[in-house]
Amino acid sequence: MDVAIVGGGNLGCALAKTLAKRYKVVVTRRNVERIRFLEDVGCEVCSDNVRAVDDSDVVFVVVKPKDVFNVLSELKDNLNGKILVSFVAGVKIDEIKEIVGCKVVRAMTNISAEVGSSVTAYYTKDLAPEEEFELELMFECLGDVIKVEDEGLLDAITAYSSAIAFMAKIFQSFVYAGLKLGLSKDLARKLTSGLFKGASELLDLEEPEAVIERVTTPAGTTIEGLLKLMEHRIDFGIVDAMISSAKKLSQR
Ligand SMILES: NC(=O)c1ccc[n+]([C@@H]2O[C@H](COP(=O)([O-])OP(=O)(O)OC[C@H]3O[C@@H](n4cnc5c(N)ncnc54)[C@H](OP(=O)(O)O)[C@@H]3O)[C@@H](O)[C@H]2O)c1
Repeated sequence: MDVAIVGGGNLGCALAKTLAKRYKVVVTRRNVERIRFLEDVGCEVCSDNVRAVDDSDVVFVVVKPKDVFNVLSELKDNLNGKILVSFVAGVKIDEIKEIVGCKVVRAMTNISAEVGSSVTAYYTKDLAPEEEFELELMFECLGDVIKVEDEGLLDAITAYSSAIAFMAKIFQSFVYAGLKLGLSKDLARKLTSGLFKGASELLDLEEPEAVIERVTTPAGTTIEGLLKLMEHRIDFGIVDAMISSAKKLSQR
C-alpha cells in the first residue's frame, strides 16, 4: 500500500520517517521547504494534497483540528476507494464522514513512532479483514498496535500520546538531580536513560507494587525518597495532568 501523509508537522514527519523504510510515502504541507529533509529518508514531498492522495492507497491526515475540515473538503472527491486514517485529536469519525464518503479509521499514536516504539490505537467499523490486516502491518512499523471497540476511548488514549512530554519533563528532572548531586550531565543522562528503559521493561513483567517492594528495604534509602515523592504528591499531580489534558481535548 502506498501512503500519503497530509500534514508534515511534528507527528506527520515522525510517521513518515518510519513508514518510508517499508512503504512508498509522499508527505505534504503548504510550506514544503520545511520538509525537504524527508527526501533524504526516501519520502517524496510536495504541497499538492490532491496529487499526493491520487497516488496513494492510504491517506494519513495529520493536521491540527482547526485545519482538518478544509483539508477534507479539498480532498473529498479524490478519496473514493481509499482508506483515510485520521490522527487528528478529538475529531470524531461521524464528523469526518459528514464530508468524505470513503472508509475512515481514527487512530492515535505519539512521536516515539519515529523510533518504532509508540503504541498506536485505532478504531474503525469500515475495513474488510484483509484491509485491517494490511493496516495493522503498517501500524506495526510504529510500535505496538491496539484496536479499540469504543471510539470514546480514543480521547483518553490521546492524553497518553501527549504524555510523552510529561515523561521528557520527568527525565529532565532526573538529570537536574544528577547535576545537583555532582554528576556530569552526560553521566546523569545515561543513568536516567537506563532507569527509564529498565523500569519500562521490568514493568512489562511485574506490577508496580512488586517492583517497589523489591527495592524498598526497611529503614533504607528508597523509602526516604518515596516519602518525599508522596510529600510532593507526585502521584496525584500526574493523574491531575492527564485529566487536564483529556478535558482540554473534550473542550475543542
Ligand atoms: N505532536 C504529537 O505528538 C501528536 C500526538 C498525537 C496526535 N497528534 C495530532 O496530530 C495532528 C498534528 O499535530 P502536530 O503536532 O504534528 O501539528 P503540527 O506540527 O502543527 O503539524 C501540522 C502540519 O499540518 C500542515 N498543514 C496545515 N494545513 C495543511 C493543508 N491544508 N495541507 C497540508 N498540510 C497542512 C502544517 O504545515 P503548513 O502550515 O506548512 O501547511 C503543519 O506542519 C493534530 O491533530 C494533533 O492533535 C499530534
